[in-house]
Amino acid sequence: MAYKRTELTPEQIDGQLAVCAGIRARNKQSGKAPLAMVDTYGCQQNEADSERIRGYLAEMGYGFTDDETKADLVVINTCAIREHAEMRVLGNVGQLTHTKAKNPDQIIAVCGCMVQQEHMAEKLKKSYPIVDIVFGPHELWRFPELLLEQMTRKKRVFAVDDAPGTVYEGIPHARDSKVKAWLSIMYGCNNFCSYCVVPYVRGRERSRRPEEIIAEARQLVAEGYKEITLLGQNVNSYGKDLDEPMDFADLLRAINDIPGEFLIRFMTSHPKDATEKLFRTMAECEKCAHQLHLPVQSGNDRVLKAMNRHYDRAKYLEEVALARRYMPDLVLTTDIIVGFPGETPEEFEDTLSLVEQVRYDSMFTFIFSPRKGTPAAVMPDPYSRQEKQVWFDRLLDAANRISAEKHKEYEGKRLRVLVDGLSDGKGGNLSARTGGGRLVHLTGDPALIGQFVDVTITGSNTWALYGEL
Ligand code: SAH
Ligand code: SF4
Ligand code: F3S
Repeated sequence: MAYKRTELTPEQIDGQLAVCAGIRARNKQSGKAPLAMVDTYGCQQNEADSERIRGYLAEMGYGFTDDETKADLVVINTCAIREHAEMRVLGNVGQLTHTKAKNPDQIIAVCGCMVQQEHMAEKLKKSYPIVDIVFGPHELWRFPELLLEQMTRKKRVFAVDDAPGTVYEGIPHARDSKVKAWLSIMYGCNNFCSYCVVPYVRGRERSRRPEEIIAEARQLVAEGYKEITLLGQNVNSYGKDLDEPMDFADLLRAINDIPGEFLIRFMTSHPKDATEKLFRTMAECEKCAHQLHLPVQSGNDRVLKAMNRHYDRAKYLEEVALARRYMPDLVLTTDIIVGFPGETPEEFEDTLSLVEQVRYDSMFTFIFSPRKGTPAAVMPDPYSRQEKQVWFDRLLDAANRISAEKHKEYEGKRLRVLVDGLSDGKGGNLSARTGGGRLVHLTGDPALIGQFVDVTITGSNTWALYGEL
Protein backbone atom coordinates (compact mmCIF):
# COMPACT_ATOMS: atom_id res chain seq x y z
CA MET A 1 0.00 0.00 0.00
CA ALA A 2 1.42 3.34 -1.08
CA TYR A 3 0.06 5.25 1.86
CA LYS A 4 1.37 4.64 5.35
CA ARG A 5 -1.13 5.06 8.18
CA THR A 6 -0.30 7.71 10.79
CA GLU A 7 -1.56 7.43 14.31
CA LEU A 8 -1.74 10.47 16.53
CA THR A 9 -0.01 10.00 19.87
CA PRO A 10 -1.95 10.05 23.17
CA GLU A 11 0.09 13.18 24.04
CA GLN A 12 -1.35 14.99 21.03
CA ILE A 13 -4.92 14.41 22.22
CA ASP A 14 -3.93 15.16 25.83
CA GLY A 15 -2.57 18.47 24.54
CA GLN A 16 -6.00 19.27 23.11
CA LEU A 17 -7.70 18.32 26.37
CA ALA A 18 -5.35 20.72 28.18
CA VAL A 19 -6.48 23.44 25.77
CA CYS A 20 -10.10 22.51 26.63
CA ALA A 21 -9.29 23.04 30.33
CA GLY A 22 -7.79 26.44 29.47
CA ILE A 23 -10.91 27.49 27.55
CA ARG A 24 -13.06 26.25 30.43
CA ALA A 25 -11.14 28.53 32.82
CA ARG A 26 -11.50 31.43 30.38
CA ASN A 27 -15.26 30.84 30.08
CA LYS A 28 -15.55 30.68 33.86
CA GLN A 29 -13.74 33.99 34.22
CA SER A 30 -16.20 35.69 31.87
CA GLY A 31 -18.84 34.78 34.46
CA LYS A 32 -21.51 33.18 32.26
CA ALA A 33 -22.30 29.64 31.28
CA PRO A 34 -21.54 29.58 27.55
CA LEU A 35 -23.82 27.77 25.09
CA ALA A 36 -22.91 26.00 21.86
CA MET A 37 -25.02 24.78 18.98
CA VAL A 38 -23.73 21.96 16.77
CA ASP A 39 -25.66 21.52 13.53
CA THR A 40 -24.91 18.33 11.60
CA TYR A 41 -25.46 17.48 7.92
CA GLY A 42 -24.64 14.31 6.02
CA CYS A 43 -24.05 10.73 7.04
CA GLN A 44 -23.47 8.79 10.27
CA GLN A 45 -19.73 9.50 10.10
CA ASN A 46 -20.58 13.16 10.46
CA GLU A 47 -23.00 12.40 13.32
CA ALA A 48 -20.14 10.59 15.03
CA ASP A 49 -17.76 13.49 14.36
CA SER A 50 -20.28 15.91 15.87
CA GLU A 51 -20.39 13.77 19.01
CA ARG A 52 -16.62 14.22 19.25
CA ILE A 53 -16.93 17.98 18.73
CA ARG A 54 -19.58 18.10 21.47
CA GLY A 55 -17.32 15.95 23.63
CA TYR A 56 -14.57 18.55 23.34
CA LEU A 57 -17.07 21.37 23.92
CA ALA A 58 -18.39 19.72 27.08
CA GLU A 59 -14.79 19.56 28.33
CA MET A 60 -14.59 23.31 27.69
CA GLY A 61 -17.64 23.86 29.87
CA TYR A 62 -20.15 24.57 27.12
CA GLY A 63 -23.81 23.73 27.53
CA PHE A 64 -25.85 22.98 24.42
CA THR A 65 -28.76 24.66 22.66
CA ASP A 66 -30.71 24.20 19.43
CA ASP A 67 -31.37 27.91 19.20
CA GLU A 68 -28.75 29.76 17.17
CA THR A 69 -29.81 33.12 18.61
CA LYS A 70 -28.81 31.92 22.10
CA ALA A 71 -25.54 30.24 21.09
CA ASP A 72 -22.16 31.81 21.89
CA LEU A 73 -20.60 29.33 19.50
CA VAL A 74 -22.18 27.75 16.42
CA VAL A 75 -20.51 24.77 14.75
CA ILE A 76 -21.87 23.65 11.38
CA ASN A 77 -20.63 20.20 10.40
CA THR A 78 -21.13 19.97 6.65
CA CYS A 79 -21.61 17.38 3.92
CA ALA A 80 -20.48 17.51 0.29
CA ILE A 81 -22.08 14.40 -1.15
CA ARG A 82 -24.54 16.23 -3.45
CA GLU A 83 -25.03 19.81 -4.53
CA HIS A 84 -28.30 19.98 -2.63
CA ALA A 85 -26.49 19.24 0.66
CA GLU A 86 -24.05 22.09 0.02
CA MET A 87 -26.80 24.53 -0.92
CA ARG A 88 -28.62 23.82 2.34
CA VAL A 89 -25.44 24.39 4.34
CA LEU A 90 -24.61 27.66 2.59
CA GLY A 91 -28.19 28.88 3.05
CA ASN A 92 -28.03 28.18 6.76
CA VAL A 93 -24.60 29.75 7.19
CA GLY A 94 -25.99 32.83 5.41
CA GLN A 95 -28.89 32.97 7.90
CA LEU A 96 -26.39 33.37 10.74
CA THR A 97 -25.62 36.87 9.46
CA HIS A 98 -28.73 37.97 11.39
CA THR A 99 -27.84 36.27 14.66
CA LYS A 100 -24.27 37.55 14.48
CA ALA A 101 -25.50 41.09 13.80
CA LYS A 102 -27.37 40.92 17.14
CA ASN A 103 -24.52 39.15 18.93
CA PRO A 104 -21.19 40.26 17.42
CA ASP A 105 -19.23 38.07 19.86
CA GLN A 106 -20.84 34.92 18.52
CA ILE A 107 -18.20 32.56 17.09
CA ILE A 108 -19.14 30.67 13.93
CA ALA A 109 -17.22 27.56 12.90
CA VAL A 110 -17.84 25.56 9.72
CA CYS A 111 -16.26 22.12 9.48
CA GLY A 112 -16.68 18.76 7.78
CA CYS A 113 -16.52 17.41 4.26
CA MET A 114 -17.75 20.46 2.34
CA VAL A 115 -14.93 22.72 3.54
CA GLN A 116 -12.26 20.14 2.71
CA GLN A 117 -12.79 21.11 -0.94
CA GLU A 118 -10.52 23.97 -1.87
CA HIS A 119 -13.15 25.88 -3.85
CA MET A 120 -15.58 25.74 -0.93
CA ALA A 121 -13.00 26.90 1.62
CA GLU A 122 -12.24 29.79 -0.75
CA LYS A 123 -15.93 30.61 -1.08
CA LEU A 124 -16.34 30.79 2.69
CA LYS A 125 -13.24 32.94 2.96
CA LYS A 126 -14.38 35.42 0.33
CA SER A 127 -18.16 35.50 0.57
CA TYR A 128 -18.94 34.58 4.19
CA PRO A 129 -16.99 36.98 6.41
CA ILE A 130 -19.18 36.02 9.41
CA VAL A 131 -17.44 32.63 9.51
CA ASP A 132 -14.59 32.68 12.05
CA ILE A 133 -13.19 29.14 11.93
CA VAL A 134 -13.06 26.64 9.09
CA PHE A 135 -11.61 23.16 9.55
CA GLY A 136 -11.79 19.95 7.54
CA PRO A 137 -12.24 16.37 8.82
CA HIS A 138 -8.46 15.92 9.05
CA GLU A 139 -8.18 18.76 11.58
CA LEU A 140 -11.11 17.84 13.80
CA TRP A 141 -8.82 16.37 16.46
CA ARG A 142 -7.30 19.83 17.04
CA PHE A 143 -10.53 21.79 17.14
CA PRO A 144 -9.80 23.06 20.71
CA GLU A 145 -6.51 24.58 19.56
CA LEU A 146 -8.18 26.23 16.55
CA LEU A 147 -10.92 27.66 18.75
CA LEU A 148 -8.40 29.02 21.26
CA GLU A 149 -6.42 30.60 18.43
CA GLN A 150 -9.52 32.40 17.19
CA MET A 151 -10.46 33.50 20.71
CA THR A 152 -7.04 34.91 21.55
CA ARG A 153 -6.00 36.42 18.22
CA LYS A 154 -9.53 37.44 17.15
CA LYS A 155 -8.57 36.46 13.61
CA ARG A 156 -10.21 34.08 11.18
CA VAL A 157 -8.68 30.59 11.33
CA PHE A 158 -8.62 28.29 8.28
CA ALA A 159 -7.33 24.71 8.73
CA VAL A 160 -8.14 22.77 5.60
CA ASP A 161 -4.84 21.26 4.50
CA ASP A 162 -5.20 18.20 2.35
CA ALA A 163 -3.88 15.07 4.08
CA PRO A 164 -4.18 11.31 3.68
CA GLY A 165 -5.67 11.36 7.18
CA THR A 166 -4.79 10.09 10.63
CA VAL A 167 -6.12 7.65 13.19
CA TYR A 168 -6.78 9.04 16.64
CA GLU A 169 -7.92 7.69 20.00
CA GLY A 170 -9.11 9.34 23.18
CA ILE A 171 -11.29 12.21 21.98
CA PRO A 172 -14.24 12.37 24.41
CA HIS A 173 -17.74 11.81 22.99
CA ALA A 174 -20.93 13.54 24.04
CA ARG A 175 -23.36 10.99 22.63
CA ASP A 176 -26.85 11.94 21.44
CA SER A 177 -28.59 8.84 22.68
CA LYS A 178 -28.36 6.73 25.82
CA VAL A 179 -29.54 3.65 23.92
CA LYS A 180 -27.79 3.66 20.55
CA ALA A 181 -24.15 4.48 19.87
CA TRP A 182 -22.04 5.01 16.78
CA LEU A 183 -18.64 3.38 16.82
CA SER A 184 -16.22 4.42 14.05
CA ILE A 185 -14.04 1.45 13.13
CA MET A 186 -12.25 3.13 10.25
CA TYR A 187 -12.00 6.42 8.45
CA GLY A 188 -11.74 7.44 4.80
CA CYS A 189 -12.27 5.54 1.58
CA ASN A 190 -10.02 4.09 -1.14
CA ASN A 191 -12.62 3.21 -3.70
CA PHE A 192 -12.91 6.31 -5.84
CA CYS A 193 -16.31 5.52 -7.30
CA SER A 194 -16.29 7.90 -10.24
CA TYR A 195 -19.18 10.07 -8.96
CA CYS A 196 -18.12 10.33 -5.32
CA VAL A 197 -16.38 13.09 -3.41
CA VAL A 198 -15.78 11.13 -0.18
CA PRO A 199 -12.23 9.84 -0.90
CA TYR A 200 -11.17 13.41 -1.73
CA VAL A 201 -12.53 14.95 1.45
CA ARG A 202 -12.08 12.11 3.95
CA GLY A 203 -8.70 10.81 2.84
CA ARG A 204 -7.47 7.24 2.47
CA GLU A 205 -8.86 4.23 4.29
CA ARG A 206 -7.37 3.67 7.73
CA SER A 207 -8.55 1.30 10.43
CA ARG A 208 -8.57 1.74 14.17
CA ARG A 209 -6.79 -1.02 16.05
CA PRO A 210 -9.11 -3.87 17.03
CA GLU A 211 -8.15 -3.63 20.72
CA GLU A 212 -9.23 0.04 20.79
CA ILE A 213 -12.53 -0.75 19.08
CA ILE A 214 -13.27 -3.70 21.37
CA ALA A 215 -12.41 -1.62 24.45
CA GLU A 216 -14.79 1.13 23.30
CA ALA A 217 -17.53 -1.42 22.62
CA ARG A 218 -17.05 -2.93 26.10
CA GLN A 219 -17.28 0.51 27.61
CA LEU A 220 -20.51 1.24 25.72
CA VAL A 221 -22.06 -2.02 26.89
CA ALA A 222 -20.97 -1.25 30.47
CA GLU A 223 -22.64 2.17 30.17
CA GLY A 224 -25.88 0.45 29.17
CA TYR A 225 -25.97 1.03 25.41
CA LYS A 226 -28.17 -1.55 23.72
CA GLU A 227 -27.26 -0.97 20.10
CA ILE A 228 -23.83 -0.37 18.60
CA THR A 229 -23.48 0.60 14.97
CA LEU A 230 -20.03 0.07 13.52
CA LEU A 231 -19.21 2.79 11.02
CA GLY A 232 -17.00 2.94 7.96
CA GLN A 233 -17.45 3.89 4.29
CA ASN A 234 -16.63 0.30 3.40
CA VAL A 235 -16.47 -1.84 6.53
CA ASN A 236 -15.66 -4.91 4.41
CA SER A 237 -12.16 -3.62 3.86
CA TYR A 238 -11.59 -3.10 7.59
CA GLY A 239 -8.14 -4.06 8.84
CA LYS A 240 -6.29 -4.31 5.55
CA ASP A 241 -3.96 -1.49 6.59
CA LEU A 242 -3.12 -2.84 10.06
CA ASP A 243 0.32 -4.25 10.89
CA GLU A 244 -1.42 -7.46 11.77
CA PRO A 245 -4.28 -7.55 9.30
CA MET A 246 -7.68 -8.57 10.68
CA ASP A 247 -10.88 -8.81 8.66
CA PHE A 248 -14.26 -7.34 9.43
CA ALA A 249 -15.94 -10.68 10.09
CA ASP A 250 -13.38 -11.43 12.82
CA LEU A 251 -13.93 -8.01 14.36
CA LEU A 252 -17.68 -8.64 14.35
CA ARG A 253 -17.18 -11.94 16.14
CA ALA A 254 -14.91 -10.34 18.74
CA ILE A 255 -17.54 -7.70 19.52
CA ASN A 256 -20.25 -10.36 19.60
CA ASP A 257 -18.22 -12.13 22.30
CA ILE A 258 -18.54 -9.18 24.69
CA PRO A 259 -20.97 -10.29 27.43
CA GLY A 260 -24.27 -8.41 27.71
CA GLU A 261 -27.58 -7.89 25.93
CA PHE A 262 -27.02 -5.64 22.92
CA LEU A 263 -27.36 -5.52 19.18
CA ILE A 264 -24.61 -4.95 16.62
CA ARG A 265 -25.29 -3.17 13.35
CA PHE A 266 -22.85 -1.86 10.78
CA MET A 267 -22.64 0.23 7.65
CA THR A 268 -21.70 0.44 4.83
CA SER A 269 -20.75 -2.75 2.99
CA HIS A 270 -19.35 -2.42 -0.49
CA PRO A 271 -20.65 -5.28 -2.68
CA LYS A 272 -17.23 -5.79 -4.26
CA ASP A 273 -15.80 -6.86 -0.89
CA ALA A 274 -18.71 -8.69 0.78
CA THR A 275 -17.77 -12.30 1.50
CA GLU A 276 -19.48 -15.55 2.37
CA LYS A 277 -17.48 -15.47 5.61
CA LEU A 278 -19.19 -12.19 6.52
CA PHE A 279 -22.68 -13.59 5.92
CA ARG A 280 -21.87 -16.76 7.84
CA THR A 281 -20.49 -14.72 10.73
CA MET A 282 -23.58 -12.51 10.77
CA ALA A 283 -25.78 -15.60 10.88
CA GLU A 284 -23.75 -17.22 13.66
CA CYS A 285 -23.34 -14.17 15.91
CA GLU A 286 -26.49 -13.92 18.01
CA LYS A 287 -26.01 -10.19 18.70
CA CYS A 288 -25.53 -9.24 15.07
CA ALA A 289 -28.61 -7.73 13.43
CA HIS A 290 -29.77 -9.48 10.28
CA GLN A 291 -29.58 -6.23 8.40
CA LEU A 292 -27.41 -5.38 5.44
CA HIS A 293 -27.07 -2.06 3.65
CA LEU A 294 -25.62 -3.10 0.31
CA PRO A 295 -25.61 -0.13 -2.07
CA VAL A 296 -26.05 -1.33 -5.64
CA GLN A 297 -26.10 2.13 -7.33
CA SER A 298 -27.26 0.70 -10.69
CA GLY A 299 -28.57 -2.54 -12.20
CA ASN A 300 -26.74 -2.09 -15.49
CA ASP A 301 -23.27 -3.48 -16.12
CA ARG A 302 -22.04 -0.68 -18.37
CA VAL A 303 -23.09 1.95 -15.84
CA LEU A 304 -21.56 0.01 -12.94
CA LYS A 305 -18.29 -0.10 -14.83
CA ALA A 306 -18.41 3.63 -15.57
CA MET A 307 -19.09 4.17 -11.86
CA ASN A 308 -15.92 2.17 -11.05
CA ARG A 309 -17.82 -0.16 -8.75
CA HIS A 310 -15.92 -3.41 -9.51
CA TYR A 311 -18.91 -5.77 -9.55
CA ASP A 312 -21.62 -6.55 -12.05
CA ARG A 313 -25.30 -7.28 -11.79
CA ALA A 314 -24.81 -11.03 -11.75
CA LYS A 315 -22.24 -10.92 -8.93
CA TYR A 316 -24.45 -8.60 -6.90
CA LEU A 317 -27.50 -10.85 -7.30
CA GLU A 318 -25.44 -13.90 -6.33
CA GLU A 319 -24.31 -12.10 -3.19
CA VAL A 320 -27.86 -11.20 -2.23
CA ALA A 321 -28.96 -14.80 -2.74
CA LEU A 322 -26.07 -16.05 -0.63
CA ALA A 323 -26.74 -13.59 2.18
CA ARG A 324 -30.42 -14.59 2.20
CA ARG A 325 -29.48 -18.27 2.27
CA TYR A 326 -27.57 -17.66 5.51
CA MET A 327 -30.20 -15.26 6.88
CA PRO A 328 -33.69 -15.92 5.51
CA ASP A 329 -35.00 -13.01 7.63
CA LEU A 330 -32.38 -10.56 6.32
CA VAL A 331 -33.50 -6.94 5.99
CA LEU A 332 -31.80 -5.58 2.90
CA THR A 333 -31.47 -1.91 1.99
CA THR A 334 -29.60 -0.08 -0.75
CA ASP A 335 -28.58 3.20 -2.39
CA ILE A 336 -29.28 3.96 -6.04
CA ILE A 337 -28.15 6.78 -8.31
CA VAL A 338 -30.47 7.74 -11.16
CA GLY A 339 -29.15 9.56 -14.22
CA PHE A 340 -25.45 8.82 -13.98
CA PRO A 341 -23.84 10.63 -16.97
CA GLY A 342 -24.77 8.86 -20.18
CA GLU A 343 -27.21 6.43 -18.54
CA THR A 344 -29.83 5.62 -21.21
CA PRO A 345 -33.53 4.90 -20.66
CA GLU A 346 -32.82 1.20 -21.36
CA GLU A 347 -30.02 1.16 -18.78
CA PHE A 348 -32.33 2.75 -16.24
CA GLU A 349 -34.85 -0.05 -16.92
CA ASP A 350 -32.15 -2.50 -15.78
CA THR A 351 -32.01 -0.74 -12.41
CA LEU A 352 -35.78 -0.90 -12.12
CA SER A 353 -35.83 -4.60 -12.97
CA LEU A 354 -33.09 -5.30 -10.40
CA VAL A 355 -35.15 -3.54 -7.76
CA GLU A 356 -38.20 -5.65 -8.64
CA GLN A 357 -36.04 -8.76 -8.49
CA VAL A 358 -34.27 -8.04 -5.18
CA ARG A 359 -37.23 -6.38 -3.41
CA TYR A 360 -35.40 -4.17 -0.90
CA ASP A 361 -36.94 -3.41 2.47
CA SER A 362 -36.07 0.20 1.84
CA MET A 363 -33.99 2.23 -0.57
CA PHE A 364 -32.21 5.57 -0.67
CA THR A 365 -32.48 7.01 -4.16
CA PHE A 366 -30.59 10.00 -5.54
CA ILE A 367 -30.39 11.88 -8.82
CA PHE A 368 -26.77 12.15 -9.95
CA SER A 369 -25.12 15.35 -8.79
CA PRO A 370 -21.80 16.31 -10.41
CA ARG A 371 -19.04 16.78 -7.82
CA LYS A 372 -16.11 18.97 -8.76
CA GLY A 373 -12.86 17.01 -9.20
CA THR A 374 -14.52 13.61 -9.68
CA PRO A 375 -14.25 11.79 -13.04
CA ALA A 376 -18.03 11.66 -13.53
CA ALA A 377 -18.35 15.43 -13.27
CA VAL A 378 -16.73 15.84 -16.69
CA MET A 379 -18.43 12.90 -18.46
CA PRO A 380 -20.93 13.80 -21.22
CA ASP A 381 -24.37 13.99 -19.62
CA PRO A 382 -26.94 14.19 -22.44
CA TYR A 383 -30.18 13.60 -20.52
CA SER A 384 -31.97 16.54 -18.95
CA ARG A 385 -32.86 16.94 -15.29
CA GLN A 386 -36.56 16.65 -16.25
CA GLU A 387 -35.99 13.30 -17.98
CA LYS A 388 -34.04 12.01 -14.98
CA GLN A 389 -36.79 13.20 -12.66
CA VAL A 390 -39.32 11.02 -14.52
CA TRP A 391 -37.08 7.96 -14.01
CA PHE A 392 -36.49 8.91 -10.41
CA ASP A 393 -40.23 9.15 -9.71
CA ARG A 394 -40.80 5.72 -11.24
CA LEU A 395 -38.05 4.25 -9.09
CA LEU A 396 -39.41 5.89 -5.97
CA ASP A 397 -42.91 4.56 -6.70
CA ALA A 398 -41.50 1.05 -7.02
CA ALA A 399 -39.42 1.46 -3.84
CA ASN A 400 -42.40 2.71 -1.83
CA ARG A 401 -44.72 0.00 -3.12
CA ILE A 402 -42.22 -2.76 -2.31
CA SER A 403 -41.51 -1.32 1.18
CA ALA A 404 -45.24 -1.22 1.91
CA GLU A 405 -45.66 -4.81 0.68
CA LYS A 406 -42.73 -6.02 2.77
CA HIS A 407 -44.02 -4.18 5.83
CA LYS A 408 -47.46 -5.75 5.31
CA GLU A 409 -45.83 -9.19 5.70
CA TYR A 410 -44.97 -8.27 9.31
CA GLU A 411 -48.61 -7.81 10.30
CA GLY A 412 -49.78 -10.34 12.88
CA LYS A 413 -46.20 -11.35 13.69
CA ARG A 414 -44.61 -11.17 17.12
CA LEU A 415 -41.18 -9.55 17.20
CA ARG A 416 -38.49 -8.56 19.66
CA VAL A 417 -37.79 -4.85 19.30
CA LEU A 418 -35.54 -2.32 21.01
CA VAL A 419 -37.45 0.69 22.33
CA ASP A 420 -35.17 3.59 21.45
CA GLY A 421 -37.02 6.82 22.11
CA LEU A 422 -40.17 8.89 22.11
CA SER A 423 -42.20 8.99 18.93
CA ASP A 424 -43.96 12.02 17.52
CA GLY A 425 -46.01 9.89 15.13
CA LYS A 426 -49.70 9.09 15.53
CA GLY A 427 -49.02 5.41 16.07
CA GLY A 428 -48.03 5.73 19.72
CA ASN A 429 -45.73 7.54 22.11
CA LEU A 430 -42.70 5.28 21.68
CA SER A 431 -40.47 4.37 18.79
CA ALA A 432 -38.62 1.10 18.47
CA ARG A 433 -36.58 -0.83 15.94
CA THR A 434 -36.82 -4.44 14.89
CA GLY A 435 -33.67 -6.56 14.72
CA GLY A 436 -33.56 -5.74 11.03
CA GLY A 437 -33.80 -2.03 11.77
CA ARG A 438 -37.42 -1.40 10.73
CA LEU A 439 -39.15 1.44 12.60
CA VAL A 440 -42.02 0.44 14.91
CA HIS A 441 -44.42 2.87 16.62
CA LEU A 442 -46.07 1.65 19.81
CA THR A 443 -47.77 2.84 22.99
CA GLY A 444 -46.22 2.15 26.37
CA ASP A 445 -44.42 3.41 29.44
CA PRO A 446 -41.47 5.70 28.54
CA ALA A 447 -39.51 3.73 31.17
CA LEU A 448 -39.26 1.03 28.48
CA ILE A 449 -36.83 3.19 26.49
CA GLY A 450 -33.58 1.26 26.30
CA GLN A 451 -35.23 -2.15 26.73
CA PHE A 452 -35.90 -5.05 24.40
CA VAL A 453 -39.62 -5.92 24.38
CA ASP A 454 -41.91 -8.27 22.45
CA VAL A 455 -44.56 -6.64 20.29
CA THR A 456 -47.28 -7.84 17.96
CA ILE A 457 -47.39 -5.94 14.68
CA THR A 458 -50.91 -4.63 14.10
CA GLY A 459 -50.46 -2.30 11.14
CA SER A 460 -47.97 -0.88 8.65
CA ASN A 461 -47.32 1.53 5.82
CA THR A 462 -44.40 2.34 3.50
CA TRP A 463 -42.28 3.87 6.24
CA ALA A 464 -43.13 2.13 9.49
CA LEU A 465 -44.77 -0.69 11.41
CA TYR A 466 -47.32 -0.26 14.21
CA GLY A 467 -47.12 -2.58 17.17
CA GLU A 468 -48.71 -3.47 20.51
CA LEU A 469 -46.87 -4.66 23.58
N1 SAH B 1 -19.64 4.50 1.26
C1 SAH B 1 -20.98 4.31 0.93
C2 SAH B 1 -21.74 5.51 0.44
C3 SAH B 1 -21.53 6.84 0.96
S1 SAH B 1 -22.39 8.10 0.13
C4 SAH B 1 -21.02 3.30 -0.17
O1 SAH B 1 -20.10 3.10 -0.90
O2 SAH B 1 -22.08 2.76 -0.36
C5 SAH B 1 -24.07 7.58 0.20
C6 SAH B 1 -24.73 7.47 -1.14
O3 SAH B 1 -24.80 8.72 -1.78
C7 SAH B 1 -24.02 6.60 -2.14
O4 SAH B 1 -24.23 5.24 -1.94
C8 SAH B 1 -24.60 7.07 -3.45
O5 SAH B 1 -25.78 6.37 -3.76
C9 SAH B 1 -24.94 8.52 -3.16
N2 SAH B 1 -24.05 9.42 -3.87
C10 SAH B 1 -22.72 9.56 -3.71
N3 SAH B 1 -22.23 10.49 -4.55
C11 SAH B 1 -23.27 10.93 -5.30
C12 SAH B 1 -23.42 11.88 -6.35
N4 SAH B 1 -22.37 12.55 -6.82
N5 SAH B 1 -24.64 12.10 -6.85
C13 SAH B 1 -25.72 11.42 -6.37
N6 SAH B 1 -25.64 10.53 -5.39
C14 SAH B 1 -24.44 10.27 -4.84
FE1 SF4 C 1 -17.97 7.02 -2.19
FE2 SF4 C 1 -17.60 4.70 -3.38
FE3 SF4 C 1 -16.18 5.32 -1.21
FE4 SF4 C 1 -18.77 4.81 -0.99
S1 SF4 C 1 -17.21 3.35 -1.64
S2 SF4 C 1 -17.66 6.50 -0.06
S3 SF4 C 1 -19.60 5.63 -2.88
S4 SF4 C 1 -16.08 6.31 -3.20
FE1 F3S D 1 -21.41 13.72 3.38
FE2 F3S D 1 -18.95 13.48 4.19
FE3 F3S D 1 -20.72 11.70 4.89
S1 F3S D 1 -19.59 14.09 2.17
S2 F3S D 1 -22.17 11.69 3.21
S3 F3S D 1 -20.75 13.82 5.46
S4 F3S D 1 -18.58 11.34 4.48
